Amino acid sequence: MQKHDVLVVGAGLAGQRAALEAVRAGRSVGVLSKLHPLRSHSAAAQGGINASLGPQDSPKDHIFDTVKGSDYLADQDAVEILCNDAGPTVIEMEHFGTIFNRAPDGSLDRRAFGGASYNRTIFSADRTGLALLQGLYEELSREKRIHVFEEWTAIDIVARQGVVQGVVALDRKSGAIEGFSARAVVVATGPFGRMYPNTTNSHASTGDGTALAYRAGAFLKDMEMVQFHPTCLPGSWILITEGARGEGGILKNGKGERFMTRYAPNKLELASRDVVSRAIATEVKEGRGFPDGTCHLELMHLGKEKITTKLQEIVEFCRNFAGIDPVVEAIPVYPGQHYMMGGVSTNPRAETNITGLYAAGEAACVSVHGANRLGANSLLETLVYGKIAGANAATYAAKAPESGLTQADVDLATKKLHVIWDRKQGESPAKIRQDLQKVMKENVGIYRTPEELLTAQKKVAELKGRYANVYVQDKSTTYNVNLTDALELGYLLDLAECIVAAAILRTESRGAHVRLDFPKRDDANWLKHILVQASPAGPKLSFLPVTVTSYQPMERHY
Ligand code: FUM
Repeated sequence: MQKHDVLVVGAGLAGQRAALEAVRAGRSVGVLSKLHPLRSHSAAAQGGINASLGPQDSPKDHIFDTVKGSDYLADQDAVEILCNDAGPTVIEMEHFGTIFNRAPDGSLDRRAFGGASYNRTIFSADRTGLALLQGLYEELSREKRIHVFEEWTAIDIVARQGVVQGVVALDRKSGAIEGFSARAVVVATGPFGRMYPNTTNSHASTGDGTALAYRAGAFLKDMEMVQFHPTCLPGSWILITEGARGEGGILKNGKGERFMTRYAPNKLELASRDVVSRAIATEVKEGRGFPDGTCHLELMHLGKEKITTKLQEIVEFCRNFAGIDPVVEAIPVYPGQHYMMGGVSTNPRAETNITGLYAAGEAACVSVHGANRLGANSLLETLVYGKIAGANAATYAAKAPESGLTQADVDLATKKLHVIWDRKQGESPAKIRQDLQKVMKENVGIYRTPEELLTAQKKVAELKGRYANVYVQDKSTTYNVNLTDALELGYLLDLAECIVAAAILRTESRGAHVRLDFPKRDDANWLKHILVQASPAGPKLSFLPVTVTSYQPMERHY
């Protein structure tokens, strides 16, 4: 049995930042990750991180833009923390060793991003997530008191009488199952977009920690809010960063029109993501797209020098995955699933409803993004709330009683896993996952109808029924991807069920959640979060008021 004061599950930016804070507060810290930390999905973030460092800009402007972008569902106290800490966070990351682009005067360069009143996105070309991850990992590596358990999959979060006890995990390298007792646990396992086939998320983005926290009794929040990024490469669904539009890229439909003039006359391509994604989907749906069902993103007018220096990765992605040279050709794009606004419900101290259980980053929902996240606020959230989670977990762990994780807990989790692993025949996990992705793509997309959502609910229930008979053909113990795929599918199914249940309940349109039967935002009835909790009868739904401090809801215009 491994034993730590604080155990962090997930080693992306949120997890690493939490671990660093907890160890520097004097606690023993374990980090459990199914990947090498530098392979975490944080590395995929491209365009930048927001901080109001410009001469006219201020944290107050950043707060307002974030609240407006969220379609007023964000909790404004949490947004204030996010935006007030943004500048110091970016400077700290620079001191940790992250190399950001510089303006000619030597200051940190800033680019425009969607929904922002000023250029406030600090960036490292178009690989900002990777640059931050490398800087933070270097800093973490200086801490000899942190033990990183690489390539371990969490299979259970154990809580008793509402208090966390630790985690049970599977060593992917050897097949061993071990208990990790901890006074405090931080969930930072990132997104769960792999329930969609058309996603920018990495293959590892299966919501392990979010689903395990839910199974352990934690509330999830804002699960109906699924973000589609406007510009993805159809087929591979690789992201074409919003930074491309921030640098001046424009969108055209099949008639050669710059159609954003109709949808967002002021901000055009730099309206918030929900607006731009709907615009592209509408152009295509109404027959004004290109024959391949896309709209085009044009960068050619920016010139070779700018494209190949500030958007280097985009050039490579376009060449390698679409056979296109964006220096001389338009890029065909369509919205793809990109981000989950929902996750483990926390307060602004990163605390969940389970004592000793904390959550941060995309696995969590504090909620700073509400119904629609602004681009470049997610890297910021991982660092600001990762630090808060680590600090509060450390303070709690310093006074908390010893964890009561027992060998019986480990044995129980092992037994459950072996029910799947030892089965002699049954359903292929790959086939169930394919069917889940089809259901989510066809029924829980940018535009939602009650018929489609009810179909999704019925089909996800059927898939869960089939999952009860899931069969792992590979019986080996070393890197058994067949087994871990099956476990991850179970996590995705639970979370998909929550997304659909909340989307059916919210009978209004707000941010990324657009119901064609309720096309208007309805503040009188729906200025509230939906919470989801596990129950024997399935997801149990309840409500939580939105915290409004400075900004009363207004109609959004871009
Ligand atoms: O478009 C992008 O570079 C994505 C950024 C984000 O999701 O924050």
